[in-house]
Amino acid sequence: MLRLNKISKYYQLNKSFISAISKKIKAVDSVCLEIKSGQTLGLVGESGCGKSTLARIILKLISPSSGQIFFQNQEITDLTEKQFRVLRQKIQIVFQDPYSSLSPRLTVKNIIAEPLQAFKQKKKLIEPRVRELLLNVGLNPEYADRLPHQLSGGERQRVGIARALATNPELLILDEAVSSLDLSTQAQVLNLLKDLQAKYKLTYLFIAHNLDVVRYISDHVAVMYKGRIVEQASVKQLYENPLHPYTRILLNSMPSLEKKLLLNKTQTPNLENQSLQPDNQGCCFYAQCNKAKAECAEQIPELKQIESGHWLSCFKPKEV
Ligand SMILES: Nc1ncnc2c1ncn2[C@@H]1O[C@H](COP(=O)(O)OP(=O)(O)OP(=O)(O)O)[C@@H](O)[C@H]1O
Ligand SMILES: [Mg+2]
Repeated sequence: MLRLNKISKYYQLNKSFISAISKKIKAVDSVCLEIKSGQTLGLVGESGCGKSTLARIILKLISPSSGQIFFQNQEITDLTEKQFRVLRQKIQIVFQDPYSSLSPRLTVKNIIAEPLQAFKQKKKLIEPRVRELLLNVGLNPEYADRLPHQLSGGERQRVGIARALATNPELLILDEAVSSLDLSTQAQVLNLLKDLQAKYKLTYLFIAHNLDVVRYISDHVAVMYKGRIVEQASVKQLYENPLHPYTRILLNSMPSLEKKLLLNKTQTPNLENQSLQPDNQGCCFYAQCNKAKAECAEQIPELKQIESGHWLSCFKPKEV
């Protein structure tokens, strides 16, 4: 469904009163990813590691500095807005905070109808379609005339999902789509997403912080750190045999996970200091890794397949 080949996005920050030199930020750095049709790829990583930037690149809201995007085997990297228009309907997004992503002055009906109007759906078909979409996301069609503030958080997120589904997309990007919901609502929305995926053969890119949630919904998981994918594997491989030191730290910080990994607390690098570390030419995790060797500072470890379906970017996996 989707393939990214060495996608990078750099931002140039100009000189300021804080910094005398202009600085290049590598928001996304040479990312290769693949999502198979009908599957869910979970994308995890700490705040600021580049997840939303990657989502915006896939949606073609911003262009990458380099690399290629393939959607259904067609390269879309350099398509103009006009050329991309038909495909745009097939790639949609649901955001984290439905309250800020839904226009407060529009009724539910108008919020869901907006993409239909944008893609020139016939007027008389819009109302029944909105009704159908509301039913599909488990909302009573009577909600059509309500405003976002008259809905609960879970209901608002269902409206966000209905809106994203309006154009019959094939790839849905869920950027922290359940993160703002309480646990029981999260579970309901996750189950709804699973049902919708089965019903409409949807492909998901599921971006989240919560590793329990990612485990529940994903087929494969990619772990991102400082703009790079450091490990990618099936859910089973990643949760039972995590190999990258950063993945292991993430998993060890999961309260619900049995501490099978037995990562020594004294070995745990201090991730809080990461922004103070200068960028290096080598592994993006070098400054935080207590197993790092000289080569880790000098070279970027390639993302290599180490067993079927398990990809890793680390020189020292065995010693971690
Ligand atoms: N327009 C921009 N100009 C400069 N830097 C940017 C811009 N957009 C994003 N960045 C930087 O790129 C990096 C990645 O940001 P991004 O929003 O993709 O992170 P994220 O992984 O989605 O974080 P979060 O989990 O908090 O949503 C951050 O360091 C951010 O400051
Ligand atoms: Mg984000």
